[in-house]
Amino acid sequence: MATVATDDFLRAEQAAQFILEHTSLRPRIGLVLGSGLGAVAAGLSDAVRIPYEDIPYFPRSTAEGHAGMLVLGTLDNIPLAVMKGRAHLYEGYSPSQIVLPVRALGRMGVRALVLTNAAGGINAEYSRGALVILRDHINLQGQNPLLGANDERLGLRHPDMTDAYNAEFRQFVREESERLGGGIFEGVYAAVTGPNFETPAEIRFLRTIGADLVGMSTVAEVIAARHMGMEVLAVSCVSNMAAGMTGEKITEEEVLETGERLASKLLALLRAVLPRIDGYLQSRATAFD
Ligand code: HPA
Repeated sequence: MATVATDDFLRAEQAAQFILEHTSLRPRIGLVLGSGLGAVAAGLSDAVRIPYEDIPYFPRSTAEGHAGMLVLGTLDNIPLAVMKGRAHLYEGYSPSQIVLPVRALGRMGVRALVLTNAAGGINAEYSRGALVILRDHINLQGQNPLLGANDERLGLRHPDMTDAYNAEFRQFVREESERLGGGIFEGVYAAVTGPNFETPAEIRFLRTIGADLVGMSTVAEVIAARHMGMEVLAVSCVSNMAAGMTGEKITEEEVLETGERLASKLLALLRAVLPRIDGYLQSRATAFD
């Protein structure tokens, strides 16, 4: 098949080069911090901070609780590229704009992507403040970052999604969470565009089709990361139970407040899990890495 050169590849490459010029760190792990979870980045040492608006083609994050800052630093000696905040479809960005940062991290040499988000809990076993490891997803955004010409320097035309969420990484999280004495769930995340929260009828529909959580992010990033062959871990913070489940209305304040309350718990969990992901990557490093 003829090689197609796309703007997506060139833009990601340019953003990656810009970032690499600003740090001597060469992170193998990328971390995306969702709504209200930015405080996790405060634990990094020797950090270089680059506002998204300074990085070529990075979308600015206009959402509340999303700082829009790339932080390159080390957490317990592990170099990390941490995105404080992300862009969403509901802000008016296209799927390829949303995943540009993920592709830039991939071009920088990031091999494992850890995504966090705030989500509505659909599974009745969950409660506000629960942490849920994503086992799988359902893309209901009616959009896909891989639509259009495929650049094989990014990945295959039809990437497999059977193991989108690395099973060993999920096991690391379950084990470390148990060691830390916190409960954790595993579930299926349904991605919608928002920006409105769902109706109770939509939540009943999502439950029927097998969703445990609902949110407005993450899935496009997972698709782009898997397209490039990155390993993925994603953890949702249940910021609220989904529409119609409690009789309460859902507010943005509730979502952000739960995220902020969970940030230290999530940081402790990540501190335990990241060395294991790092070990996984090292054990699979090839001469070409
Ligand atoms: N629905 C969709 N996205 C969300 C929710 C929700 O209830 N909570 C946090 N993000």
